[in-house]
Amino acid sequence: MPSSPRQIIPFTIIRMDSLGQGVSKEADKITFIPKTMVGDSGEAEVLAERKGVVFARAIRFNNRSAERINSSCPHFDDCPSCHFLHIDYQKEISIKTDTFNHLFRKFEMPQLEVIQAPQRDSYRNRIQLHYDLKRKIIGMLDAKQDKIIPIPECLIGLPVIKQEIKRLYTDDAWIDEAQGQPWTGHLEIYWNQQELKLTWNRPYAEGGFTQVFAEMNERLKAILAQWVASKKPTHLLDLFAGNGNLSQGLSYSQRLCVDIYPEAKGAEFISQNLYDEKAKKRIFQELKKRNFSPQVLLVDPPRSGIKDLSAWVEEIRPNFLVYVSCDPHTLARDLSLLENYSLVKSFLIDFFPSTFHFESMVFLERRG
Ligand SMILES: C[S@@+](CC[C@H](N)C(=O)[O-])C[C@H]1O[C@@H](n2cnc3c(N)ncnc32)[C@H](O)[C@@H]1O
Repeated sequence: MPSSPRQIIPFTIIRMDSLGQGVSKEADKITFIPKTMVGDSGEAEVLAERKGVVFARAIRFNNRSAERINSSCPHFDDCPSCHFLHIDYQKEISIKTDTFNHLFRKFEMPQLEVIQAPQRDSYRNRIQLHYDLKRKIIGMLDAKQDKIIPIPECLIGLPVIKQEIKRLYTDDAWIDEAQGQPWTGHLEIYWNQQELKLTWNRPYAEGGFTQVFAEMNERLKAILAQWVASKKPTHLLDLFAGNGNLSQGLSYSQRLCVDIYPEAKGAEFISQNLYDEKAKKRIFQELKKRNFSPQVLLVDPPRSGIKDLSAWVEEIRPNFLVYVSCDPHTLARDLSLLENYSLVKSFLIDFFPSTFHFESMVFLERRG
């Protein structure tokens, strides 16, 4: 069967969207193009079209934005993992700040405080690579184009991880090491407590969830610790707690941590799928049984957020709510449904420099 011809369209980038893509509007059609910048124009290849919205990739430039810089990474043009290496870090931060402020434009809130990262590369303590043994290829998965992009010179990992990636590519060392694995799958490279671990095809992260940028994690925790200390709570409930990273060492008499995969053990940890419809009932019963009435509710869900947050807070009625989020879209959605709480502080903490992702942390207080 003949393959359909490539569709090439002109583009001019007029603004950036909240996923770090340039937006072009030609003949009333909106096109999203990654790795472009306001002021870029040229031609793009259409990758997909859904409900009249086009997703494309730039293939030729007539004009390049004056804000462009040369990317420090040799894989940047093809690799789907980093989004902003064609602009400098201050521009990246201003796009992220605009994204947050736009999503929260209808909220009454204090000025956003922005905590920048100390560096744009060499920070990730965990990297996942995808492989295909038949095609002898390993690298980052470009899900949109269903392709694996080799990244031997990737800059984003800690130095020890970068070195390990190079080693895996040297003489295709990874192929021998993948013997006995399925034809296709993934490899996780993880540096933790001075030890490098390679894990093939594990469905969830080695050692349970951990934050990928250790220094920024410490900065977020320092802000959180100061705020919690000022509220002097006795009981704190940590939902989507992982190993209890965020609530570890805060000032309270007791905490309760809930997660679907708590690797940590003990009475402080409960294993529960918090998206299960029976989750609330079980946790509320547990709180009652323990005579545990949280003044602080801390939530840190995955990107999908916590849609029924208002049902949680209306039952628990914490005086204080802290929402840590890796997706500002779901954060804004979930907070918009809350009644009786005021936003008193908000932070953008750049856990994921070079990408459009960032961490947000917002503090809320109960009214009346
Ligand atoms: C963004 S991480 C935060 C973890 C922790 N607060 C930290 O800072 O390390 C989200 C957590 O949600 C957990 N999680 C994902 N799906 C879940 C579910 N359905 N029910 C409960 N926890 C879930 C993950 O295991 C992960 O630990």
